[in-house]
Amino acid sequence: MARRTIVTMPGDGIGKVVLPEAIRVLQAVGFDADYVHGDIGWDFWIHEGNALPQRTIDLLTQHKIGLFGAITSKSKDKADAELSPALRGKGYSYFSPIVTMRQHFNLDVCVRPCLSFPGNPLNFIRRKPDGGFEEPKVNAVVFRQNTEGLYAGVEWTNPPEHVRKAFESHKKWGAFKSVPPEELAVSLRIITRSASRRICHAAFEYARRFGYKSVTICEKPNVLRETSGMFTEEAKRVARDFPGIALWETNIDAQMMWLTKNPEDYGVIVCSNMFGDIVSDAFAGLVGGLGFACSANLGEEVAVFEPTHGSAPKYEKLSPSIVNPIAMILSACLMLDHLGETARSERIKRAIAAVVAEGRVRTYDMLRLAGGPDVLRQGAASTTQMTDAIIAKL
Ligand code: NAI
Ligand code: MG
Repeated sequence: MARRTIVTMPGDGIGKVVLPEAIRVLQAVGFDADYVHGDIGWDFWIHEGNALPQRTIDLLTQHKIGLFGAITSKSKDKADAELSPALRGKGYSYFSPIVTMRQHFNLDVCVRPCLSFPGNPLNFIRRKPDGGFEEPKVNAVVFRQNTEGLYAGVEWTNPPEHVRKAFESHKKWGAFKSVPPEELAVSLRIITRSASRRICHAAFEYARRFGYKSVTICEKPNVLRETSGMFTEEAKRVARDFPGIALWETNIDAQMMWLTKNPEDYGVIVCSNMFGDIVSDAFAGLVGGLGFACSANLGEEVAVFEPTHGSAPKYEKLSPSIVNPIAMILSACLMLDHLGETARSERIKRAIAAVVAEGRVRTYDMLRLAGGPDVLRQGAASTTQMTDAIIAKL
């Protein structure tokens, strides 16, 4: 196979710290690739009025695979205030580059595995009837529709007259008829059959490829009859093509309860955008939180892999860095899986598991310390030491 070129987009803050660590691990595991740097983040907003320059979009269009660290976003007034004086008043407005990237390449399938590594002090535990504790093995993979639903961004405060007229044609609108327009905000939850089918198909395909026995669709079709209804219909239709894999249905609210009662029962989970956002954060909290939460954004052509965490600005200047590189390294594993390099991905995950199980090298988050320069003296490993330990286990 032709040698791969990976577009690396470190971005801001700790994105610049953790991405090179993931590349060290990829090189140590013998993954053969070239890396080209892609500009993204706050500096490019300040100096160019665009946090995702066209040249980075061109690189992704050409090479198809991106590894992304994290970016810093700020409120509208801060963004305007920090824009370079030479660019002010010229019509620039800030957009989140990661959202822009997802929309531009239609990265509609978001995958967020939540895997517990035994021995991680941050793992969810529960009390047994005999008074002892047990640590259930969590291995849930959330498939979140990434572009539609309530996050599609179709919303208004004080909707224009013609929009309000359209709402008034709905029989349930009666309850809001007398609300003064300026006191009314509305978001539309948009679901399409084709995107629902794609995310459900991706979820089942993943379950088949990695041997999961069930796919759980987590929606609310008893209340959101049209939108969750359509999503559920598509899930059922897709399920017929995967006879060996059970389709379970849960409601989002019940799921939030079940996942702290019996998280080990869930395999692949599929949801629309906001429910997927919520349920994947909830599962991530059971397996170590932001230091462990990885994700893939998959489109038909382009795929971008990133940790769930942001740029953690309060730690960006710490040298040596103290943040946990595992979320970024696991994101690189997702990239390897996507490229068919499953054996290398498994080797890395086994190495991480060995380091966590041994418990000698732990970053500050794993020790439940408040982050700061002192944590190294308190026994925490630095970012580099954690990566070194993982590489040593490969
Ligand atoms: P954050 O995820 O950057 O940090 C929250 C806290 O989580 C940190 O202060 C730190 O205590 C902990 N943390 C994060 N990553 C960690 C790691 N690898 N190891 C150990 N601890 C870690 O979220 P926050 O503070 O809300 O946002 C900071 C900036 O990041 C903002 O500008 C925000 O807009 C941006 N952001 C970007 C995202 C992205 O690039 N996809 C996602 C989330 C936030
Ligand atoms: Mg989120």
